[in-house]
Amino acid sequence: MSAAEAPDYRRQSPAVAERFRQLKQRPVVLTVDRLTRRFSRPDGSEVTALENLSFVAHRREFLCILGPSGCGKSTLLRLLAGLDQPTSGRVLLDDREVSEPGPERGVVFQGYTLFPWLTVKQNVMFGLKIGGSGNDQADAEARQWLELVGLAKFADSYPSQLSGGMKQRVAIARALANNPRILLMDEPFGALDAQTRAQMQRHLLQIWRNVDITVLFITHDLDEALYLADRILVLKANPGRLDELIEVPVPRPRRPEQFGSPEFLAAKAHIEELIHPKIAPPTDSLPFIRFTQVGDDVE
Ligand SMILES: Nc1ncnc2c1ncn2[C@@H]1O[C@H](COP(=O)(O)OP(=O)(O)OP(=O)(O)O)[C@@H](O)[C@H]1O
Ligand SMILES: [Mg+2]
Repeated sequence: MSAAEAPDYRRQSPAVAERFRQLKQRPVVLTVDRLTRRFSRPDGSEVTALENLSFVAHRREFLCILGPSGCGKSTLLRLLAGLDQPTSGRVLLDDREVSEPGPERGVVFQGYTLFPWLTVKQNVMFGLKIGGSGNDQADAEARQWLELVGLAKFADSYPSQLSGGMKQRVAIARALANNPRILLMDEPFGALDAQTRAQMQRHLLQIWRNVDITVLFITHDLDEALYLADRILVLKANPGRLDELIEVPVPRPRRPEQFGSPEFLAAKAHIEELIHPKIAPPTDSLPFIRFTQVGDDVE
């Protein structure tokens, strides 16, 4: 197929185009405005983890951030969570500048961050009680959230008694319990096996459908981003900056057969080219040091 005949990765079916038109009319929840973060290295040099990054997320949008290791994904998430301060630029949530952590932003990290000495329910109640809820109210709300993530039966278990996927479902319940405006997730399923990961992706979409929440989900797995996202923000490294913002041309609810449409395949091929550009062989290859007998004929 010649380049002229190749399907345009921006092509959308009328249903998808209408969905994006509606999505962009929703209020903006998150504004990232010319965000830059530089760090000093111990040797005195500087690294620009993020440079001049700007984008917005709309109410109930599912936005994925995709990019290679070191392109500033976690730096971005920490800035959005208020756990770090930008060198310049700003983050606005509902038009209010973010400067510290707050209950309107729920965070789920890759590592398991539950308190091991508290039960599942107590973990979910923790933020609610800090937020001022009484014990009975926090108890009732925690049960509700555990119901939503399908773990009501495990309310009195301890984190060590749960599988990795279940722990992350508790972490999601805990993050949602404070009724945040936005859920910030940094490779939350990165440590799970492929099957559990796929199951968690389905769970997350189901949860998102039932809750009025905007999701910002970081991953370096293209298939995960394509399955989950409305839009994918592709970052590139050194310095971390916006490469392209791509609308996933698949309607919702998503069904497996939709992932074979020409529009979808064109978008996928385009992002693959962005994140794995056809470049010269790496210059950082390892030195040739052999700890085996040359000529042993195993290659
Ligand atoms: N506290 C810090 N001090 C110095 N450099 C830092 C600090 N935090 C991040 N960096 C640097 O900023 C860049 C971006 O790091 P970041 O962790 O945000 O990348 P990432 O996209 O999340 O990578 P990964 O996919 O491996 O998680 C890297 O070069 C990293 O070394
Ligand atoms: Mg990271």
